[in-house]
Amino acid sequence: MASSINNSAWLDWMAGLMGGVSRQTCAATFPPDRFYCLLDELPLHLVPRSALAVKSQDGGRDVFLNPECRLCVGEKLPEELASQKELVSAFALQGTVAWVRDANTSSLMPFWLGPKLESIVWNLRLQEPIPESVPAFSRSILKSAGILVSADSIGHRRTEREEALGRAAELFQKKGYAPLRGLIHPFHIAALRRYYRSLIRTGRIPLGDGQSSRRYAAYNDPVARFFHWQIAFSLSSVAGEPVKPSYVYLASYLSGAELKKHVDREQCEFSITLCLDFSPEPILATPWPIQLDAPTGTVTVYQALGDGLAYRGTRLPHYRSPLGSGQTSTSIFFHYVAADFAGSLD
Ligand SMILES: [Fe+2]
Repeated sequence: MASSINNSAWLDWMAGLMGGVSRQTCAATFPPDRFYCLLDELPLHLVPRSALAVKSQDGGRDVFLNPECRLCVGEKLPEELASQKELVSAFALQGTVAWVRDANTSSLMPFWLGPKLESIVWNLRLQEPIPESVPAFSRSILKSAGILVSADSIGHRRTEREEALGRAAELFQKKGYAPLRGLIHPFHIAALRRYYRSLIRTGRIPLGDGQSSRRYAAYNDPVARFFHWQIAFSLSSVAGEPVKPSYVYLASYLSGAELKKHVDREQCEFSITLCLDFSPEPILATPWPIQLDAPTGTVTVYQALGDGLAYRGTRLPHYRSPLGSGQTSTSIFFHYVAADFAGSLD
């Protein structure tokens, strides 16, 4: 026999289903086939688990509005993007977007603000303390996104990134490959997972390409292209020379798909393979490693969600075994060439 209806949360949920107020009141106003990263209603189940542990820190009392944060409403964009509007052509440009600029890498990170966070952030003033009334959870989310910073966190993040890129550069320039973590913010990883799952499930990304009939594939998708540009500077540091984006490829593999051993074409002189999604949800690394034939022997690289691997795809043969039964895996391949490369970028 069904239990009696006496739970108010359940009643609220049912009211939402029947046309009342939905819990995801803001996300429901966004077109699902557009990219957005709405901080008020983050799909926390899609944030990589390793990042969630780190990001659930308290926002602290010593935070202030990041001077590198620009608030834009609707289709207004930061100046840097004025000549690259095609990169945001699939963004849901509505409401307030906080664009956080990283002065060291010249990258931009867009975070959408719903009514709650929007009312907090618009009322903040540079160099003024955050009001006591701002809840700890809101501080924490805003600090994780880099919209709020502390004097310590700015210096700490810079040092951490420089050290990580320094280690990666040494390995890459010596051996032709290097794992890269934290290239894309974990909130954006979650938003990208939601976005590409939506495109695949609604038939917007075709199944099968010249290399495999068991993968959905998208060439130069504008959202992937946006991140392609944002991480270019970091890859230049790793490569030890200036690079420029050539093309980007998203591939979502079904069980049985295989990546046969191959080397890449000249447009892939420097590449990053980003592990974006996997099912069943892995706790840490996925069980589908990429293998590289390096001069010193075969290297097997296991990646967790959000991990990147920089590699010289034109020099090191690379491959994956058939994907296991009941598994799916999604990667983005970001390809770059030397800044003075004069050939086709397609
Ligand atoms: Fe390849």
